[in-house]
Amino acid sequence: MKERIAAAFSRHLASYDGAASVQARIAARLSERLTPMIQRGARVIELGHGTGLLTRHLLQLEPREIWLNDLAAPLPDLHWPERTRVHALGGDATEIDLPDRLDLVASTSMLQWLTAPRELLRRASDTLVPGGLLAVTSFGPGNFPELARLGLAAGAPSYRDADGLCHDMPRHMEVIAAWDETIRLDFPDARALFGHLRATGVNGLMGGQLSAPRLRHLMKRMDRDGALTLTYHPSCCIARMP
Ligand SMILES: C[S@@+](CC[C@H](N)C(=O)[O-])C[C@H]1O[C@@H](n2cnc3c(N)ncnc32)[C@H](O)[C@@H]1O
Repeated sequence: MKERIAAAFSRHLASYDGAASVQARIAARLSERLTPMIQRGARVIELGHGTGLLTRHLLQLEPREIWLNDLAAPLPDLHWPERTRVHALGGDATEIDLPDRLDLVASTSMLQWLTAPRELLRRASDTLVPGGLLAVTSFGPGNFPELARLGLAAGAPSYRDADGLCHDMPRHMEVIAAWDETIRLDFPDARALFGHLRATGVNGLMGGQLSAPRLRHLMKRMDRDGALTLTYHPSCCIARMP
């Protein structure tokens, strides 16, 4: 699974930013909430930075030190403030050694790809100083209902709504914000919809389910049914170390 995830994302890194409007919105919304809570000069880690949609916002926090982790993506090319020390921490977030005494552990649109997100949240909370924040987003179990109605199984192993994310937080963490959203995208036809999934790396993970003839058949059926939508259900939880 891990190899498939890495391959799907690295293959489509170039097209990701152009297509990932939902993920960009999720990162912007999370950072809006975080910005007033994080002091300048913090120690921060981002898990699953991808092309840097959240990283760009973390840069505005002018951290003293930031660790950037991803399974497949190279470090986003960003101009960091001179006093920020940036550490590349490539690899599987569930396996790498995490730094300690962190003020913020942040991750957007990544947790759903883990088979045991709860375990990573537990390890992440162990790295926090008192008052430190663990801020994560995922997608709810009802993500992409349009694809489920077509009989296509969910691409990711661990969908969680906000309640589910909060439930996965270690008991000692204090949840300070949690929310679910619904974001619907419209597509002129099935080709555009599957193109969008491919560009954001999701299609490669559902790929095994669809042979080329079956995909063609499905696309014809979808086009006959008229206007097409794809409904994302992002979820978020921010918790504080007491
Ligand atoms: C949908 S992208 C999200 C990227 C970015 N955080 C954003 O908000 O756009 C998911 C990213 O998580 C990374 N990823 C998936 N599983 C991972 C793991 N086990 N450890 C670290 N990164 C992982 C992928 O390589 C990919 O870059």
